[in-house]
Amino acid sequence: MDFILYEVDGAVATITINRPKALNALNSQVLDELDQTLDAIDLDTVRCVILTGAGDKSFVAGADIGEMSTLTKAEGEAFGKKGNDVFRKLETLPIPVIAAVNGFALGGGCEISMSCDIRICSENAMFGQPEAGLGITPGFGGTQRLARTVGVGMAKQLIYTARNIKADEAYRIGLVNAVYPQEELMEQAKKMASTIAKNAPIAVRNCKKAINDGLQVDIDQAIVVEEKLFGDCFETEDQKAGMGNFLAPKDQKVKVVPFKNC
Ligand code: CAA
Repeated sequence: MDFILYEVDGAVATITINRPKALNALNSQVLDELDQTLDAIDLDTVRCVILTGAGDKSFVAGADIGEMSTLTKAEGEAFGKKGNDVFRKLETLPIPVIAAVNGFALGGGCEISMSCDIRICSENAMFGQPEAGLGITPGFGGTQRLARTVGVGMAKQLIYTARNIKADEAYRIGLVNAVYPQEELMEQAKKMASTIAKNAPIAVRNCKKAINDGLQVDIDQAIVVEEKLFGDCFETEDQKAGMGNFLAPKDQKVKVVPFKNC
């Protein structure tokens, strides 16, 4: 792969978008390689993924403006679909994904971060949907996920004004969960990922599915979604191990239950 780095350390995988000369902008090749990387994740061993950008300046500076500049209407729609398909695959990956936003997250960069479960960022991060200033709408899910993440009014303001915001404002409006000095960002992302990876993997997956699927339907259907996924957990060895450890005599309890993902 030319533009994606993939590393696995125990149960945590890190995907790095690696096109620093273009501030990690997403061209078709980057999207294809990201798609292949997501398909290749070994879900039997990896329990949490971190997504970040190469270098200390940019997470992802958007979709590739050079590539988009000559698109026709049909090609524009197809390019939007290409990005949307990959981002949806990321969003529906069975295991959690943490976006470690280490700089610019503009346009497609902000959009890919919103396809992750959790966003944390460095102090130099900058978020925004500058598309209206380029003569287009956000095209990789920004009109949909920004409204769902920060609320309709704030999303409309950011998208219509095409104004970029710094890390502190992104934190204030709930676009990111935490802001760290640049040098601490990956360490913090790994710490969070390992904490997630220590919990019962099937339960964590079911939590993700319950939250994501439940948000797409009304509350009566949503609680049924939860009931089914809750019930499924009782067929797992991990539920027996987790509850068994809680109920074990004090001298037989372990601090970290060795969940087996089954
Ligand atoms: N597409 C293609 N190339 C990009 C790029 C992008 N989105 N963003 C940056 N680059 C390239 C620049 O062209 C430049 O390349 P050269 O060295 O070959 O000239 C290189 O990355 C470095 O960029 P700058 O010199 O511009 O760096 P800077 O520090 O002065 O500015 C920046 C950084 C503010 C992020 C600026 O690069 C910028 O505004 N980039 C575009 C951001 C943007 O508008 N993103 C949204 C794209 S549209 C989109 O994403 C649509 C969608 O929803 C699908």
